[in-house]
Amino acid sequence: MEPLKIDISKTLEFLLYKDISRYQAEIDQHHEALRNRTGKGSDFLGWVNLPSSTSEDLLSEIEAAARRMQEIADIFVVVGIGGSYLGAKAVIDALSHHFSPLLSKEQRKAPLVIFAGQNICADYHADLMDILADKSYAVAVISKSGTTTEPAIAFRLLKQDLEKRYGKEGARERIIAVTDPESGALRKMATQEGYQTFSIPPDVGGRFSVLTPVGLLPIAVAGFDIRQLMAGARDMELHSQKYSDMNQNPVSLYAAVRNALYRRGKNIEILATYHPRLQYLVEWWKQLYGESEGKDLKAILPVGVGFTTDLHSMGQLIQDGERNLFETVISVAKTRRQVIIPTDAEDLDKLNYLAGKDMHTVNKMAEKGTLLAHIEGNVPNLVIEIPTISEYYIGQLFYFFEKACAISGYILGVNPFDQPGVEAYKVNMFALLGKAGYEELAKTLRERL
Ligand code: PA5
Repeated sequence: MEPLKIDISKTLEFLLYKDISRYQAEIDQHHEALRNRTGKGSDFLGWVNLPSSTSEDLLSEIEAAARRMQEIADIFVVVGIGGSYLGAKAVIDALSHHFSPLLSKEQRKAPLVIFAGQNICADYHADLMDILADKSYAVAVISKSGTTTEPAIAFRLLKQDLEKRYGKEGARERIIAVTDPESGALRKMATQEGYQTFSIPPDVGGRFSVLTPVGLLPIAVAGFDIRQLMAGARDMELHSQKYSDMNQNPVSLYAAVRNALYRRGKNIEILATYHPRLQYLVEWWKQLYGESEGKDLKAILPVGVGFTTDLHSMGQLIQDGERNLFETVISVAKTRRQVIIPTDAEDLDKLNYLAGKDMHTVNKMAEKGTLLAHIEGNVPNLVIEIPTISEYYIGQLFYFFEKACAISGYILGVNPFDQPGVEAYKVNMFALLGKAGYEELAKTLRERL
C-alpha cells in the first residue's frame, strides 16, 4: 500500500519540533488505551477494528441488497442525519460525476442517490416529493438510535407515499432499515413491517459509523466499490496499529501537531481542498472533530473551505484576519481526467501563457501559491496528500481522521465518543412542539421567547 502522506514542514516556522515530539509518550499511551479499550468512552470503540473485522458475508449481503435496489429503483433516497448521512454523502459525491443528477440511470450505471431527513425544511421535503412523484424509487432509512426526529419525519412522508403507490407489500420491497440491532423505534417498526434490515454495531457511535452498513449500503447502491473502501481503511488500520511513532505514523503526527498548535492559541482549523467533489468529505470531518472534541469548554473549531472558490470569499480573512487559525490541506496528486487549456489566436484574454497546460497544473500552482501566501500571513499549514480520489484512498482518509480524532481528543482530555451537548436543542424543540413530558420546560421557554 502507498499510505497517505502528511507534510508538517510548514508548521515548523511556527513550532519547535520539540513542541510536537513532547506528545509522543502520551500518544503511545493513547494508542494502548484504544487497543485495550481502557480510555474514556471505551464502550464506543467498535470502529477501531471495523475494517479488519468486517466479514465477507456482511459485504456480500450489502452488495446483494444494493443490486436489488439498483434493479427496482431509478432514485434511491437515503434518510438520515449527522453520522447517518455525511459519510455516505462524502463518498458518493467524491466518486460521482459532478453533474450526476443530469445523467440517465444507464449513463450512471446506478440509481441516483439523494438524501432526506438531514434537515426539517418543508420546502426541501415538498420539492423532494414532487421529484419522486413520477419516479421509481426506494428508500434506506438510517438511524443508530432509531428515534431522531429529522429522519423520522422524512421517513413517515416517504413510507406513506410508497404504501399509497405500491401497497404495503410493494413498499416493503422498497425499504431497507439500518439501525441498532435491538433498541429504538426504527428497529421496532422494521420488525413489525418486515423490512430488510442491517445492524449498526452498538459500540460504534454515529460519526464513526461510515464503514458499517450506514455508509456501505448507500455507497454500494450508488455503484461504488465498498471492498476497495474497506481495503484502504484496513491498510490504514494495520499501519497505524503497527507504529505509534509519529515519524512513521501519520495518525500520531496529525494528532500531535494540531494539539501543539492549539497550545499556541490556534483554536481554529481550516480544512481546505481544491476539488469540489471533496466538499462533503470536509463536512464529514467537521462533524467528526466538532462533535468529538468540542466539549468541556475546549475545542479546535473545524471549518471547511473549498479552494480556489473560497479564496474569493474567505481568502482575505485567512490571509489577514485574527491569527488564531491553522490550515490543513487535502492535496490530490492526480485528477482522473485532464483538461488542456487551448491556444487562442487572438489571445484577447491574455491566457496563452497557459495554453497546452492541464487545468490540474494550474490548480496545483494555485495550491502551492496559496500555501506560501498563507504561511507568509502567519497561518501554519499541514498538507495531507493522496495520490488520487478513489474508494481506496477515501477509505484511508476515513480511518486516518477517525483514529487521529480519538487520539487528539484524548490529548485534549475529553471523551471523544459522547455528544451530551447535542441534546440541548432537542429538549427545547420537543417542549415547544408540545411533546408529552416537557410541559414545565415549555412554560419556561415560552416566557423567554
Ligand atoms: O455522532 C452522532 O452520534 C450523532 O451526530 C448522530 O450521528 C446523529 O445525531 C444521528 O443520529 P441517529 O443515527 O441516531 O439518527
